[in-house]
Amino acid sequence: MGNIILTGDRPTGKLHIGHFVGSLQNRVKMQNEGNFDKMYVMIADSQALTDNFNNVKKVQDNIIEVALDYLSVGIDPNKVTLFLQSQVSELTEFNFYYLNLVTLARAKRNPTVKSEMKEKGYKDDVPLGFLCYPVSQTADITAFNANIVPVGEDQLPVIEQAREIVRTFNNLYGETLIEPIGVLPDKSTCKRLPGTDGIHKMSKSLGNCIYLSDSEQDIKKKVFSMYTDENHIKVSDPGKVEGNVVFSYLDAFCEDEHFKKYLPEYNNLDELKAHYRKGGLGDVKIKNFLNSILQEILLPIRTKRQELEKDKDKIMNILYNGSKQASLDAHKNLIRLKTAMGINYFNEI
Ligand code: TRP
Repeated sequence: MGNIILTGDRPTGKLHIGHFVGSLQNRVKMQNEGNFDKMYVMIADSQALTDNFNNVKKVQDNIIEVALDYLSVGIDPNKVTLFLQSQVSELTEFNFYYLNLVTLARAKRNPTVKSEMKEKGYKDDVPLGFLCYPVSQTADITAFNANIVPVGEDQLPVIEQAREIVRTFNNLYGETLIEPIGVLPDKSTCKRLPGTDGIHKMSKSLGNCIYLSDSEQDIKKKVFSMYTDENHIKVSDPGKVEGNVVFSYLDAFCEDEHFKKYLPEYNNLDELKAHYRKGGLGDVKIKNFLNSILQEILLPIRTKRQELEKDKDKIMNILYNGSKQASLDAHKNLIRLKTAMGINYFNEI
């Protein structure tokens, strides 16, 4: 059997360039290589509600924003099934049976959930839906028989828990489900792009993100506000490259061809880094270089987004059709699941 790929994002804000290097680019590449039987991209609005149940509007508003971001980076609804989690009710049924296969102790031990709980200040007051989102995420994955799940590094413990649930299910009810694997993006530097402050990961509330929809001026302003090396005061001072946000971003975005266009006195990033370390290279120059690269990458995305924004009904229609298709696919697998469990009492097919 060929590969079935599934990925998704919670619609809690517009997508930023961390998402772009961490996952979106990779998804578009996979989509265009076509080395799969099926590929699904899901807007995980139900999962987003697990900690935003009292702010549905935030999730609602961001569904369209994330869909616009997806389509403007090149996700193609003719090649992938783009759908909305909340509109595929089969997923809740998978989740319901999987919840029996996970203990409270195990749920509390998931490192991703643990760190997110800490971030959000949850203790025993954590909503059960939030504590158990890796279980519902297992439903998202297995409902489509997905074996490949491209994710960011922080999601690996969630995939590990999904694998465990699959094994437990198969042991109890017979080989039915496929153990998914989490796939990380290739370039190791892309795994985690820091926020523009260089301290935290990109987060909307910290205002340290560059969004895919940011204007030319916004991008420039954010690049020039980046923290570099506090001891690199005069141009002639030697500078540090490690932990220097501008270089972290260059690691993620810069290709040799960018030097030909924007900084022909260097051949590649290694040469630029060597000069910075030695001293004699100013921050303005490296920031201008990074700005040129980001502007080049983001201009076509922003232009396409502005075009797509004009017809939001069309976007909702894409999500509607994708969700209908996803529902049909998940339904078939749900029947298989219930048959395996011995609870397909009316012999539905
Ligand atoms: N947890 C993912 C995130 O935080 C979103 C998500 C939900 C997901 N269901 C998924 C990712 C299934 C991959 C597969 O962005």
